[in-house]
Amino acid sequence: MSEPNTEGGPPSDGRSLRTLRVAQPERPLRPYPDGWFMVARSGDLGRRTAIPLSYFGRELVAYRDGSGTAVVADAFCPHVGAHLGHGGQVVDGELQCPFHHWRFGEGGRCTHVPYAPRPARVGLHHWPVDERNGLIWVFYHAEGAEPDYRIPDVEEATEPGWSRPLLLSARWNAHPIESQENFLDEGHFNPIHGQEGPMEIGLETDGPFASATTRLHAPVLGPRLTFEGSAQLAGPGFSVIRARGLISMAVMCIPTPIDEERTEFRLLVIARNPGRIRLLGAVIAQFLRAYTRLHFRREGEIWHRRTYHRTPSYSSLDKALPRFRRWYMQFCGQSAGPPE
Ligand code: FES
Ligand SMILES: [Fe+2]
Repeated sequence: MSEPNTEGGPPSDGRSLRTLRVAQPERPLRPYPDGWFMVARSGDLGRRTAIPLSYFGRELVAYRDGSGTAVVADAFCPHVGAHLGHGGQVVDGELQCPFHHWRFGEGGRCTHVPYAPRPARVGLHHWPVDERNGLIWVFYHAEGAEPDYRIPDVEEATEPGWSRPLLLSARWNAHPIESQENFLDEGHFNPIHGQEGPMEIGLETDGPFASATTRLHAPVLGPRLTFEGSAQLAGPGFSVIRARGLISMAVMCIPTPIDEERTEFRLLVIARNPGRIRLLGAVIAQFLRAYTRLHFRREGEIWHRRTYHRTPSYSSLDKALPRFRRWYMQFCGQSAGPPE
């Protein structure tokens, strides 16, 4: 468990501190917000062998059915409880348990019990799945509601002219809100990322989507570069940050809750190939990945030990952050806050 932060919210400009109302760690956010979360990369799923996954405090199993469609289901066999992700095989497009070879087909229905004349009238719970941008997404909803939005396509992940996405991942004791709100946290760009001058971030919200823009002027492994920066957010489990300048890049930021304490944070770094020289794009992507790793660790160390204040002591410069948090509440079973 994180060490408590009893000092209150972010550093203030000294003029506009509100009364500190919260001095104890608290957990006002639901550990599993409602929305799409990445659970694997497309290449992780084969057509023969199932794989185990652990997210949302549950054990899951993933595989591809006979048509190649990704399937994610609860992992424990309804027979006597074997884990289908450890030794489970895909046979004729159906998932076969490693223990007594019961099989589960479309919608999770039991289709075959090898030593019985009829299949058992049981099934596996299948989760809503979407495969997009080379990633496998699962829709979590506390009350089992169907998805009401989609993760947007990221053209940089699939179109020519961009490098292959390079993955960074880490598990920290932190809520998935951390990486979602990061771009909206004006005050951290200077101390953490070396931004020169104050930040002004424009935030627009539209149901489960939000977008933000700003101008970045910061050192990138040496030289100070200027970028037009933007972030596009979709639900609680996806954002893509784009920086356009001398070097252009896109970073998909993807938090997935593992259990009530831990989140897996993934970053996928993509760089534009300059001109027609594809190899150069790959070299730049490696360079940007090293830069991003440095900053990712710097922030992760803080997220790992941070607490979440329901009523932070905002400074007058914290403008986008409180608006972002009001927007985020819709994924935690609460109203998205009063109109702005
Ligand atoms: S535990 Fe799965 S078939 Fe028996
Ligand atoms: Fe940051």
